Amino acid sequence: MDLRVLRLALSGVCCCCLIACSARPPGPIETRTAYWVKQHITVGGKSDKNPIVATAENIDAGKHAFGYYCVECHGRDGQNTGVPFATRLAPPVPSMAGGQVQAYTDGQLKWIIDNGIFPSGMPASKGTLSDQEAWQIVLYLRDLPRAGSLGDPKAYSGDEYEPDEAPQGGAN
Ligand code: HEC
Repeated sequence: MDLRVLRLALSGVCCCCLIACSARPPGPIETRTAYWVKQHITVGGKSDKNPIVATAENIDAGKHAFGYYCVECHGRDGQNTGVPFATRLAPPVPSMAGGQVQAYTDGQLKWIIDNGIFPSGMPASKGTLSDQEAWQIVLYLRDLPRAGSLGDPKAYSGDEYEPDEAPQGGAN
């Protein structure tokens, strides 16, 4: 290959890297790459099975725990309804109903709840949530209601902030 063409190609690659590293919302290719890396390499628990049976009571318990611990960033419906900053974070808060989140195995979703996703804003909940609550939340993530059907989180509704009642059976 002509040296000039090679140099041009290399500087093109460097430019792409620099653009990719700058602070701005990730584009579709970066998002797809990041999910591939998470789903195949960094997120553990892939083959762990949910020991909690998907009864109406357990799904409801998961919904309740989600409405307490996760609601500020993910909305009551897990689809960011009423969360004002959801699209402004980098990476943005994804919809729990979306294909990329649903492509995680149950064990990986539990791992994400336990460990968070470093260095994004997704916090680790191990020690705050019991294993049972985390698995119940996984059940809820697999059985989400229609987007918008549960209204906005109370924190952003303009009324005085009053969190949902703490669920029973936490880690402490
Ligand atoms: C302080 C805000 C915040 C809270 C509270 C929060 N999350 Fe997240 N969550 C995020 C952000 C930001 C992301 C995007 C992370 C990424 O793509 O790197 C995320 C992503 C996720 C994902 C998908 C991971 C991925 O790779 O896209 C799952 C599943 C999730 N959260 C579940 C939960 C659950 C369950 C709770 C409550 C126990 C919770 N989150 C609490 C901000 C939050």
